[in-house]
Order: sequence, then structure tokens, then C-alpha cells
Amino acid sequence: MEIGESISALKKHQFLISNLKQHSMKIVIANDSHFKYAEIICDTIAESAKVRGTGIAKRTPEYIQKRLHNGNAVIALDGDKFAGFCYIEVWGHEKFVANSGLIVHPDYRNQGLAKRIKKEIFNLSRSKFPDAKIFGITTGLAVMKMNYELGYKPVTFSELTTDPEFWKGCQTCKNFDILTRTEQKMCLCTGMLYDPAIKTKASGMEKVNSKAFKRLKSIKESLFLSKKTK
Ligand SMILES: CC(C)(COP(=O)(O)OP(=O)(O)OC[C@H]1O[C@@H](n2cnc3c(N)ncnc32)[C@H](O)[C@@H]1OP(=O)(O)O)[C@@H](O)C(=O)NCCC(=O)NCCS
Repeated sequence: MEIGESISALKKHQFLISNLKQHSMKIVIANDSHFKYAEIICDTIAESAKVRGTGIAKRTPEYIQKRLHNGNAVIALDGDKFAGFCYIEVWGHEKFVANSGLIVHPDYRNQGLAKRIKKEIFNLSRSKFPDAKIFGITTGLAVMKMNYELGYKPVTFSELTTDPEFWKGCQTCKNFDILTRTEQKMCLCTGMLYDPAIKTKASGMEKVNSKAFKRLKSIKESLFLSKKTK
């Protein structure tokens, strides 16, 4: 067998394995029967933040269980094994909802699972809160890409909820002092918003400009992080 042929056979094999994994994977709306996963969800979120060295709003198992209980979360399970998670938070008397805490266990990354979870939580948000604007703040290019494909647009923080409880969540992030310094006008995160009143159809074809996003992130980091160390 030529090298080219064996590479293509290997790729086919990897594709088949990834397809098989996707088939045993189920993504469901969470409920009380998933309480046992609250701990591993928190640990995986905290561990990933440590590895990335980025700021993150901390969540406790009790906090996660509340979201599981009220049916405002989706969980991905490979048999009984935890694979991924995301939940809905409601702000400003249901004027806004956020899809937060997206996490895919390291064993299941780069197989399109986050994309499927994001779509499920987005659909759940739209059906439970049809009039709410859906928003998120993120430093992650992956999340930015997925949001963009769902029809979110980048916005300034002034277009997001003013609910103090939401912004309180940032207090546990290591970059909180930046948000304070800028009087909540900007931070390392980018704000993204889906407005149901603006009928921009998400065709799934919209692509984020990764280069521009990375450039913006690096400008923000050099502006804000250097000040922090002075
Ligand atoms: C970010 C995360 C959720 C992605 O999960 P995943 O299942 O590997 O993502 P998918 O395979 O569905 O990929 C979705 C898209 O993001 C892109 N992507 C995935 N990881 C990426 C990364 N680290 N950097 C840039 N893009 C990335 C993929 O290429 C894909 O884009 P495409 O459609 O243009 O190819 C996962 O790595 C994770 O849990 N990380 C730690 C927690 C985290 O960062 N959460 C986000 C909070 S802001």
C-alpha cells in the first residue's frame, strides 16, 4: 500500500470511529436524574479554565443542580459517561437569557459535540423564552464561531442585560478588575447577542472572521493586562 493510500485509509477509519461515537451519544434536556453529574460538570469547567489560564465565573454543584432541576440545561452522555453540558440563565425579568457554562469533556473534543450542544440549548432557549434576547460573553474563538453561525452578532456590553446579578457572576473571574476599571463598558470577553426581533435568518453559513477576533483579543490583552501589572 502506498503512503497516500494508507493515510486515506487511516482518515476513513478515524471518521468511522468518530461516527460510531456520535451515535452512542445522546443530548437530552437535563432533570433531577442528572444530579449525580453536577460535581463532574463543575470540576471539568474549573479544570479547563485552569488549563487555558483564562478567567471564568465559578459554579458550585448546587448552582448546577438548580439548572438541572428546572429543565434549563442540556447534558450530553456517552452511555452513562459525562460528555458535555450547557445551561440557560434568565436575566432582567426574562428579557434576556444567556447560554452559559458550555463545556465538553476533553475526551470528546473536536468531534462537533459543542456545536450540537449549542444548537440544542439555543433551540431550548427559543422555545421556553421566545421573546428573550439570547446573549453571551466569551473569550473563546470556538464559542464565537458557534454563536455566529446561530445568528448572534458581536455587540458592546451596553446592549446586554443590566441585571446586576449577571455581572456579579464576573466577580469570581480573575479579570474582574478590568470590568471594574472600565465601569462595565468592556473586558477581555466579547459580548454577543441574538435578537429575535431582528429577523436575520441564521443560515449556518455565516463565519466569524477569526483573524480579526484574534487581533482584537490581543489588542485588548495588551491594553488591559499591561495596566494591571504596572
Ligand atoms: C470550547 C469547547 C466547548 C469546544 O468543544 P468541541 O466539542 O471540541 O467543539 P466542536 O468540535 O463542536 O467545534 C466547534 C467549532 O469550534 C472550533 N473550535 C473547537 N475548539 C477550538 C479552539 N480551541 N480554538 C478555536 N476554535 C475551536 C471548531 O473548529 C469548530 O469550528 P468550525 O465549525 O469552523 O470547524 C471545548 O474545547 C471546551 O469545553 N473547552 C473548555 C471550556 C470552554 O472553553 N468553554 C467556553 C467558555 S467561553
